[in-house]
Amino acid sequence: MDADPPTERRISLHGEWSSRFAFILAVAGSAVGLGNVWKFPYIAGENGGGAFVLFYLLCVSLIGLPIMMAEILIGRRGRRNPVATMGLIGDEESGTSKWAIVGIVGIGAGILILSYYSVIAGWAFAYVWKGISGSFSGLDADAVGTLFGGLAGSALATGTWHTVFMVMTVAVVAKGVERGLEKAVRVLMPALIALLFVLLGYSMVAGDFAGAVEFMFAPRFSELTRDGALIALGHAFFTLSVGMGAVMAYGAYLPDEHSIGKTSMAIVAADTGIAMLAGLVIFPIVFANGLDPATGPGLVFQSLPLAFGQMPGGQIVAGGFFLLLTFAAWTSAISLMEPGVAWLIETLRVGRLVAAWALGLSIWLLGFLSVFSFNVLSDVTFLRGTFFDNLDYLTANIMLPLGGLAIVVFAGWIMSQNSTADEIDPGAGSSYRAWRFLARYIAPIAVILIFLNAIGLF
Ligand code: TRP
Repeated sequence: MDADPPTERRISLHGEWSSRFAFILAVAGSAVGLGNVWKFPYIAGENGGGAFVLFYLLCVSLIGLPIMMAEILIGRRGRRNPVATMGLIGDEESGTSKWAIVGIVGIGAGILILSYYSVIAGWAFAYVWKGISGSFSGLDADAVGTLFGGLAGSALATGTWHTVFMVMTVAVVAKGVERGLEKAVRVLMPALIALLFVLLGYSMVAGDFAGAVEFMFAPRFSELTRDGALIALGHAFFTLSVGMGAVMAYGAYLPDEHSIGKTSMAIVAADTGIAMLAGLVIFPIVFANGLDPATGPGLVFQSLPLAFGQMPGGQIVAGGFFLLLTFAAWTSAISLMEPGVAWLIETLRVGRLVAAWALGLSIWLLGFLSVFSFNVLSDVTFLRGTFFDNLDYLTANIMLPLGGLAIVVFAGWIMSQNSTADEIDPGAGSSYRAWRFLARYIAPIAVILIFLNAIGLF
């Protein structure tokens, strides 16, 4: 760092990460979750594979990565919750604190996402016990479908697991995010990756691996629809946890001396790698068992148990896998809530305990719209489908890209070059210039074009 920094540095109100590695772990813990293992395979399956996957990878690297860097740099500069930070920096850079609205909409998006995220995470948790107790042993594709239908189709079961997961999430957020999270991610994320590699071995031997590789990586561009392109864009935001201020909130706790570019690239690479791995585990099982890749949100829960039911030691592997998936979802869920809680604490001046439980209660209640979408209200459909379908579409494919657009326009056009270079690279070297080019031109224009294309304007 310069001996004489150009602006006076602010100090975070909620503590700092103990190291760069701790920050990487926290953001990676946020990024890696159901998005990688549950959502990516099922939307890739619904949207024809190949071309969709390729387009998603482009969105991640050309749009998601620069936006992640923008969130971290804004967060670290403001060192407050996303609403206060956007207001503060907006005021400093352009004389208006109206940019705080971006933070408010982001907090809303986090609340909506968590309300259904928790329902799916509840299924993963439920499958821990099903796996350990041997419920998967010897099942065929039909029986696995029936087993999943029994869980999703029961409002009581799904609602109970949703409740358990929300309590787990609130319990951590109520204590303060830095404690515990670091340790959990440091051990559990490598364990999840290791287990995915074990399953990859199984899928290569026992599944239709060649068919899966072909499906995932051979682009058939005619199969990528206008809507599919928007879904790929939305998922780039969803899987990286960007567009709503979660990474901005974590960036607020990042010490000054750490490189934003390297950190972001490491996180994006890990997150993308895990999604690819999950696809290469799941699709060979799907194709070898004649399942439909376009099954929808139940895909992971209806494919992996077939493998667990056949492999030696399958009960342990199944229990371990779904437990690690639940943990991954947990660290993501925490990051969906943290901006809202930090904002409540700072604006209403309530304690963390009160803020976390009050917000958690509202999210839990809202979650029942998604719980019921798979059973008692499964016939109530409008626009995109059930409440769950609409909530997912609205948040991931509309709110996150628009939030991300605002954030990247703010960092690229509203903030001065001095301010952003100061955070990313005070020497304004080539990596800074690459970021600035992506942030000013490529990312905003691409987001706008994909939107216009989705509504059929060209
Ligand atoms: N990225 C997480 C996943 O892939 C979900 C998530 C956590 C998220 N925090 C977020 C999505 C913030 C959008 C915004 O499972």
